[in-house]
Amino acid sequence: MLRRFVNALSSSVGRKAVMGLTGLLLVGFLAEHLLGNLKLTPMPLLGDPEGGEFDHYVEFLKSFGPWLKVAEVGLFALFAAHIVIALRLTMENSEARKQKYVIRSNRGAQTVPSTSMHITGALLLAFIIKHLFDFRLNDAFHESPAEVVGETLSQPVHGLIYLLVSLLVGLHVSHGFRSAFQSLGASHPAWNPLLVWLGRGLAVVLAILFASIPAYFLFSQGGAH
Ligand code: HEM
Repeated sequence: MLRRFVNALSSSVGRKAVMGLTGLLLVGFLAEHLLGNLKLTPMPLLGDPEGGEFDHYVEFLKSFGPWLKVAEVGLFALFAAHIVIALRLTMENSEARKQKYVIRSNRGAQTVPSTSMHITGALLLAFIIKHLFDFRLNDAFHESPAEVVGETLSQPVHGLIYLLVSLLVGLHVSHGFRSAFQSLGASHPAWNPLLVWLGRGLAVVLAILFASIPAYFLFSQGGAH
């Protein structure tokens, strides 16, 4: 298993496949993360603006003890692999572009999300570092999770950053989802339009629902404090 993974990393096609697979797994993390965080809002069936449901959710995650650490290390490895391979592929592409004989027929249509993948990716990485200091690495968060998230997102600068990042997530996923399937070899004229629209639909849903969390704290009283 590990050997197949290492072998995959030795070719450009394999690296793209690993990039696609890690990207899809990260979308899975984002979906779970979103469902957990929506508990902070008045979202029907899910939300509890008093913060109790969110605090229970954080306690529930902590109840996994050492397994939570294992999951966090796995998540870190996913992000690290995705980012390192993205950098490597970018270097290879720019190297190839310098050499005129490169065949560029396989690049697909250039759209705003597709051309901005590096920028949205870099901004998301910067956000994740800020984000970890906001909550995961903040002692106050572990004392009273819902209160600290509510207080942070109610502050205009932080709230607006989270709002903008939600849109960046949408832009990144919009192209990344379709591109991941292509890199994994799932490309067929009959399915491609469906994959493009599935990616766009997923991106819009993720962006709107993520944005609804800071928007709730920025534009309403917020319930947790
Ligand atoms: C409105 C948006 C968001 C809110 C309110 C939010 C909230 C949180 C909170 C409260 C934690 C700490 C959880 C804990 O330690 O138990 C956390 C962790 C984390 N968040 Fe977010 N998040 C948001 C968006 C995002 C986005 C867009 C990304 C990725 C692009 C992201 C990536 C992460 C990561 C990687 C962790 C660390 C997970 C861990 O170590 O267990 N978050 N987030």
